Amino acid sequence: MLFWSPALEHLPAAADALRAGRLVGLPTETVYGLAGNALDPSAVAAIFTAKGRPTFDPLIVHCPSTPEAFRLASSVPPAARLLADHFWPGPLTLVLPRRPDLPDLLSAGLPTLALRVPAHPVALALLHEAALPLAAPSANRFGHISPTSAEHVLSELGDRPEVAGVLDAGPCALGLESTVIGFPSPGRVRVYRIGGTPIEALREVIDSIEIVQAADRVDDPSLAERGEVSPGMLARHYAPRTPLLLLDPQEPPPSLPGTTAWLCFDHPPHGLAGPSACLSPTRDLPEAATRLFSCLRHLDSLAPDRIVAWRVPNIGLGRAINDRLTRASFS
Ligand code: TXA
Ligand code: MG
Repeated sequence: MLFWSPALEHLPAAADALRAGRLVGLPTETVYGLAGNALDPSAVAAIFTAKGRPTFDPLIVHCPSTPEAFRLASSVPPAARLLADHFWPGPLTLVLPRRPDLPDLLSAGLPTLALRVPAHPVALALLHEAALPLAAPSANRFGHISPTSAEHVLSELGDRPEVAGVLDAGPCALGLESTVIGFPSPGRVRVYRIGGTPIEALREVIDSIEIVQAADRVDDPSLAERGEVSPGMLARHYAPRTPLLLLDPQEPPPSLPGTTAWLCFDHPPHGLAGPSACLSPTRDLPEAATRLFSCLRHLDSLAPDRIVAWRVPNIGLGRAINDRLTRASFS
């Protein structure tokens, strides 16, 4: 895999690779994606192979503008137009009825397709340069922590022959995946994945929003078929290799045998033994979001017996942080 740095100088090489059916590590404002030509069934299949992703878990297609995204849908509910007007380009994914002529594997056989217009200059520039819609899941091996730097992509997928290179645009500003929203029946708006667009911001635009909970099991395929859940929202996901124990904000650190690595919100409590990382010394949730996955990766790389993490305040981006920590804690 080539390391394309700085990204903007290597756009033609990346676009050539995409047109040739190969895959490219793509910086976005949320996390790095593994991009392939959404119109080429073999490129789409290569994404699943490279990630080791099960084929029941559909992909997000990235487009350079709202009209180009909506062109891939067979219909667009009024609430989706409203949300796109407010939040695109940005960390929001809309699940809409799909056009039948697109590769089936994109949406894993579902009648819907996930669409997003990213707010990152390199992502937008590559979408224009390649002039293709790009299917791009997070650029990690299936079930691992999402990558927030080009180095993370290299460590996850560097040995995969399907991947031509990664465009290095430095660390992702937001650091959490997009919020994923569907419209299961007329008038309903349902959040499948809490992410970079906070629920509070969505509620300023749409009165009534349903939220699928992190602990909801997704084992009934008909629920995904009917748009009630997203097939990708397995309870255990976004997980370090190390077991993770999650505590409430006020809980004292437990004393445990063996080695523990600690993930704190602001400051480590006094007397902790073992390595620790803090998400934001000033208790700033956007900063905590940006640092979450790289801190988890770092603690995981130390191979302790466990990671102990504290929940953060459950507001704004804090909800998405707590959602990822909860998923990482399921065994
Ligand atoms: O921020 C992001 O969304 C990043 C960047 C690269 O755009 N992408 C990302 O993709 O996180 P991925 O594949 O890791 O997560 C996509 C999520 C999965 O949970 C998947 O199940 C859900 O979106 N999804 C995709 N298509 C869907 C559909 N038709 N119906 C319901 N859920 C869908
Ligand atoms: Mg992912």
